[in-house]
Amino acid sequence: MAQMAILSLSGLKKLYKKGEIEVTALAGVDLEIEKAEFCAIVGPSGSGKTTLLNIIGCLDSPSEGTVRYLGKELKALGEKDLSSYRREHISFIFQSYNLIPVLTVAENVEIPLDIAGGFTSAQKRAKAMEILAAVGIADKADRYPRELSGGQEQRVAIARALVKDPVVVLADEPTANLDSHTAEEIVKLMKKINRDRGTTFIFSTHDKMIMAEALRVIELRDGLVTKDERRST
Ligand SMILES: Nc1ncnc2c1ncn2[C@@H]1O[C@H](COP(=O)(O)OP(=O)(O)O)[C@@H](O)[C@H]1O
Ligand SMILES: [Mg+2]
Repeated sequence: MAQMAILSLSGLKKLYKKGEIEVTALAGVDLEIEKAEFCAIVGPSGSGKTTLLNIIGCLDSPSEGTVRYLGKELKALGEKDLSSYRREHISFIFQSYNLIPVLTVAENVEIPLDIAGGFTSAQKRAKAMEILAAVGIADKADRYPRELSGGQEQRVAIARALVKDPVVVLADEPTANLDSHTAEEIVKLMKKINRDRGTTFIFSTHDKMIMAEALRVIELRDGLVTKDERRST
């Protein structure tokens, strides 16, 4: 039997109402994402990339269709399972990093552990340091976000997304605010984590160089999947 998809989306539609006008952000998306895939969602601005990621991450809900996680429909999950999906299984990396300026790098990375609860300060620090080392900035643990470069800030945001060892990381244009050299470093770092830890990555991008690193490229146009290609390297 084929392995069960981590995520399976079927007939996903999203309509937004702007006054009298209805905008179709997603027009019927069907997709299966397997464990440990490294997928880029590409397509022109307005094609539905952000909407799709937000629906997978439960930041938004579909107008029609279903999202299944490990075979279970999200809509059918109870509050407890849904909150565990959002807090433990899925993580977001944002384009603008969203770091908290008054907290140090290590403290920013510990936030998801604070929310989860049940860790001592020493345990939280140990986990934060381990993941900061994995993203190559353990030496910045006691610095504040304003003391970092954009690429370093994005590494902190990645560390924060990974500290709870999520199954799926969602990233909406994670390299959009970076110069091309730093963007390439960041996507290679994501790919290394994908390879070493088997974390599933789904990220949107406009950037051809970032697309070239993806192992699967899903193209959206006008809210529909118009291409879906896998590569082996
Ligand atoms: N909150 C919203 N209210 C109204 N329209 C929206 C909203 N979010 C997105 N849209 C519209 O949905 C379409 C898809 O947007 P989006 O998912 O942001 O695309 P992308 O991320 O590919 O640029 C666009 O036409 C956009 O204007
Ligand atoms: Mg977008």
